[in-house]
Amino acid sequence: MNERMLADLFNHLETVVMERLDDGSFRLVGCVPNWFKRFYPEAVSRKEGLRLQDNSPFLENFCIDAESFWVGKGAGRLKSGTFIEMDPLGDEYAMEASALCSREKKILLIELLGTAYEDRKAVLQKARENVLFREYLEEEVCRRTAKIRLREEEIALRLVWATESRDKDTGAHIRRIGLYSEALAKALGWEPQQADDIRIAASMHDIGKIGIPDKILSKAGKLTSEEFEIMKKHTEIGAKILEGSDIPLLQMAKEIALGHHEKWDGSGYPRGLTGKAIPESARIVAIGDVYDALVHSRIYKPAKPEANALVTMTHGNGKHFDPKIFECFLRILPTFRIIRQEFHGTETMLYLERPQMTLFRRP
Ligand SMILES: [Fe+2]
Ligand SMILES: [Fe+2]
Repeated sequence: MNERMLADLFNHLETVVMERLDDGSFRLVGCVPNWFKRFYPEAVSRKEGLRLQDNSPFLENFCIDAESFWVGKGAGRLKSGTFIEMDPLGDEYAMEASALCSREKKILLIELLGTAYEDRKAVLQKARENVLFREYLEEEVCRRTAKIRLREEEIALRLVWATESRDKDTGAHIRRIGLYSEALAKALGWEPQQADDIRIAASMHDIGKIGIPDKILSKAGKLTSEEFEIMKKHTEIGAKILEGSDIPLLQMAKEIALGHHEKWDGSGYPRGLTGKAIPESARIVAIGDVYDALVHSRIYKPAKPEANALVTMTHGNGKHFDPKIFECFLRILPTFRIIRQEFHGTETMLYLERPQMTLFRRP
């Protein structure tokens, strides 16, 4: 292979090899490819005494790091990372410098990254786009899930609203029951999604009252035993309205509608279930429902002071109420009081509050 051929071959190489001399300049090893001459024209006329760092602030900095690498006779290569140089025509070229030691010599390689760099840039760009797209998709899923959730809530609340327009219970009571139940569920260690579900599901506990005749539902005095038997049916009517759905929120609402008058000792209705045979959601709602009914007045009864209500409820511990949930209720009583303060209305019917129906969360 003659010298011309060798020079031609070097023109196609994308790496320049140089030796670092003691005075800080460089000596070119082998032939010099044309692309390198664009940036360091002095390399055309001489091969020694080149001061590359004078033309490139980036290389100047790299040579400072490289010097300690060379002096320390570091193993492997010290790489500069990609840097961009501009030729006199304004074209940009991506390069990378490496320092290495070879046979006691300090060697500097300068590599033209060319298409390899463009390819790598394209790969990185693609990876970045993929990450951004995945983030976008995740956000979109969250946004749509939240929207579906709001719709479920709205449908549930409109259903409650339909019942409440006939019932003596107030909108404030409905809100409080949801919030008490959510607080109890959280304190019992429920998952956030389920605790959120019970807030809405609990509001539907008496939805079956829609099927109870007005003369019983609106009766001011005490119900006769025959009327009470009919009133009890609101649990099963509610369950019928809510059953068969594959929406977890409505499945829970059905459990609650059917089970919120069951009692821990089996003396409740409609099925006389005992203990844990009663769904936990219904056991939770039972406590909040009784507490709220006792401490608030109704058209047919005055409110009890909380201390008296707690005495009454304590008698029901282990009979009416699940002892574990009752203990939890006593522990988070301050939260119940805060909820009562925030939603203290007793007179306002939910249907009068319709514009705020979606504001069913604690502020
Ligand atoms: Fe009920
Ligand atoms: Fe209630």
